[in-house]
Amino acid sequence: MSAKPAPEAPAPPPRHVAIIMDGNGRWAKKRFLPRIAGHRQGVEAVRRVSRAARKLGIEVLTLYAFSSENWRRPEDEVRDLMGLLRHFLASELDELVSEGVKLRVIGNWRKLSPDLVSMIEGAIARTADNPGPTLVIALNYGAQAELATAARTLAERAKAGTLDPASIDEAALEAALDTGDLPPLDLLIRTSGEQRLSNFLLWQAAYAEFLFVDTLWPDFDEAALADALDLFGKRQRRFGGL
Ligand code: IPE
Ligand code: IPE
Ligand code: MG
Repeated sequence: MSAKPAPEAPAPPPRHVAIIMDGNGRWAKKRFLPRIAGHRQGVEAVRRVSRAARKLGIEVLTLYAFSSENWRRPEDEVRDLMGLLRHFLASELDELVSEGVKLRVIGNWRKLSPDLVSMIEGAIARTADNPGPTLVIALNYGAQAELATAARTLAERAKAGTLDPASIDEAALEAALDTGDLPPLDLLIRTSGEQRLSNFLLWQAAYAEFLFVDTLWPDFDEAALADALDLFGKRQRRFGGL
């Protein structure tokens, strides 16, 4: 009897998808519009794509909204971005609450302006008991700073005598990251054609699948996310095994 090869099992859908939302400025430039117009459309894409992610059954969607390096931009652009963030939080919170979404924020967001910090705290508190899915927004986020902070946290515990340095392993460091309690990152998408991580989720990306698409972020939509999930489904993840 000849053994029939087992049909390829479809890869399980990604639980945790992260997106580097890039290309707002180029979207505006192509239309001879100011960069803020691209950022406004970028916020529309955030609404659209976070709804699509819920519809497509993604458990955790992590969006890179403002990096720790984005402070290098002109002051008025930073001000515009912070204004859009305020607007997004104010206008989207009711829907997040009614949809059962849990909002999380990673990065040094407590260093943002005090009014934004209290808005974010309020939004997190209002959605804290929601069952999920989870929407994670990376704000003033940099992966190297996140790793340095995690190392400092562990060092302080060791100094206080509550942690044996010999017990510090990958799991201990991972648990000390901002994402410590989230499922592993499965798929990382970057829009706009750039192929770099720009200091995003360096640790978490260890075994993530990468997808770089040319679409500019303001044009990204449900169909684009569904295509990304299809492509993910065709990847063979080996995690070092065979
Ligand atoms: C992404 O779009 C939004 C943020 C980084 C806040 P960009 O503003 O980087 O757009 P490009 O890269 O200039 O086109
Ligand atoms: C990465 O995009 C940060 C966000 C999307 C928030 P950037 O546009 O800031 O990245 P670089 O400067 O091209 O690497
Ligand atoms: Mg960019």
